[in-house]
Amino acid sequence: MPAVTHETQPIEGQKPGTSGLRKKTPVFTHRHYLQNFVQSIFDAIGGAAGKTFVLGGDGRFFNDKAAQVILKMAAANGAARVIVGCDALLSTPAASHLIRLNKADGGIILSASHNPGGPQADFGVKYNIANGGPAPEAVTEAIHARTQQITEYRISDTDGIDLGSTGEQTLDDMVVEVVDPVADYAALMEGLFDFDAIREMIAGGFTMRFDAMNAVTGPYATEILENRLGLPAGTVMHGSPKPDFGGMHPDPNPHWARGLMDEMMGAEAPDFGAASDGDGDRNMILGRGIYVSPSDSLAVLAANAHLAPGYKAGLKGVARSMPTSTAVDRVAEALGIEAYETPTGWKFFGNLLDAGKATICGEESFGTGSDHVREKDGLWAVLLWLNILAVRGQSVAEILADHWRRFGRNYYSRHDFEALDTKAAEQMMHELHADLPTLMGTEIEGMRIASADDFAYTDPVDGSVSRAQGVRIRFEDGARIVLRLSGTGTSGATLRLYLERYEPDPAKHGLDPQEALAPVIRAAHALAAIRHQIGRDQPNVIT
Ligand code: G6P
Ligand code: ZN
Repeated sequence: MPAVTHETQPIEGQKPGTSGLRKKTPVFTHRHYLQNFVQSIFDAIGGAAGKTFVLGGDGRFFNDKAAQVILKMAAANGAARVIVGCDALLSTPAASHLIRLNKADGGIILSASHNPGGPQADFGVKYNIANGGPAPEAVTEAIHARTQQITEYRISDTDGIDLGSTGEQTLDDMVVEVVDPVADYAALMEGLFDFDAIREMIAGGFTMRFDAMNAVTGPYATEILENRLGLPAGTVMHGSPKPDFGGMHPDPNPHWARGLMDEMMGAEAPDFGAASDGDGDRNMILGRGIYVSPSDSLAVLAANAHLAPGYKAGLKGVARSMPTSTAVDRVAEALGIEAYETPTGWKFFGNLLDAGKATICGEESFGTGSDHVREKDGLWAVLLWLNILAVRGQSVAEILADHWRRFGRNYYSRHDFEALDTKAAEQMMHELHADLPTLMGTEIEGMRIASADDFAYTDPVDGSVSRAQGVRIRFEDGARIVLRLSGTGTSGATLRLYLERYEPDPAKHGLDPQEALAPVIRAAHALAAIRHQIGRDQPNVIT
């Protein structure tokens, strides 16, 4: 047998975060770092023998080499079959779809999502389970536990596989099926949305820009938006995946997608603009002259989803992460369906989707998706918006204004303080935490605090409990402050401050969110003593 067993020792710090294991690329490429983690995945799931996996990534630096290592390890661990995207490319939602479509046992996705790629940038490995979704905490904990005990890993000493063209090959006794990364995903989208109606809108002069940020959605967006829906060539910008994302930070938000933002706010702006992240699961939505906050986008999609064929039967329920604005809760109330509040991290939606409790889910972190896969899905959100625009025949700005008139406006913003000293950030959260019991009933910035707690979640399906998911402070007028430390960073700590205030009066729906939220922002700084604790009073990213 060409399988070779290598001795190894545990490596510190192989603990998956909000979304898989993410580290600087040189950490992953160092000696057997990747091998240890992959073997720990196989060991933690009861071995790979006889199993089928899906494999692919967002094309960042080391994607291709890591894929070869994983194929050789899967073969040496006795896997029956691996379905892998051509050139080892798969967007995260497409990988999720392929796992479900092929009834695979799981999948390995190579990505650090929206973090930059390159020899000195970030890399990541994420394991998804048979439902197509990110491994739940019990599984990631088992993987981490295994990384601390590992003594050997197995790898085939063959040359690997040519992933340059589609078709079946074998690697030792394992079948490797190289697939077109786009085809099955595009077919799924055609089944959910009214492509004819969208085509008609486009034929009528509708214009759009899609920024793929030199990352994995380029081929998907080009095939779907340009080839199938008939938008002109060039609609997709930065459409070829590059190992270093062409130097871009592929995070679709107003800060990192500045070029697209400027275009959409300019005189020549097209009707619609959108962007997706490194691995294709995030989205940003823009109209001519208007930015749609992810929380509002979720609420609008939930209120209008029935206009798309895939959702015409209505929604079973909706779910949002705790820091996401409560705008979608108002929609759920009007629709008479349940709204679930989960911790940050798409994995928490998996059980709700599997149990048929929620159809559409979303997060303030530019993620929206539905039960069609078990990941958030950037292009899905873009296509649902296009379907809604086509049916309603209104602009993005008109749809938003209508939405706020009907439901009121939840002014919302997130302030990020990045690259903080980890100890200082943890100390700040610790002290704030200690203050929580004393805050209720006190007044700050003229607003009385109605409740203050640290969010804990009991999964309504399996009863599992997740504690310490973020501090939330609610005021009597419904305004809300949430603070938590990011679980996806790779250097230092990032403090996320989430701010929300509800405004029912349509005459006051046209304010700049930062202005509308000014008292809430001041209250947050006073409560957490942010400047004193972390030495900064200005965020470096505002979304
Ligand atoms: C990833 C996850 C999301 C999560 C986001 C923010 O994108 O897939 O579900 O909302 O990270 O995580 P963070 O811990 O950095 O706020
Ligand atoms: Zn992502």
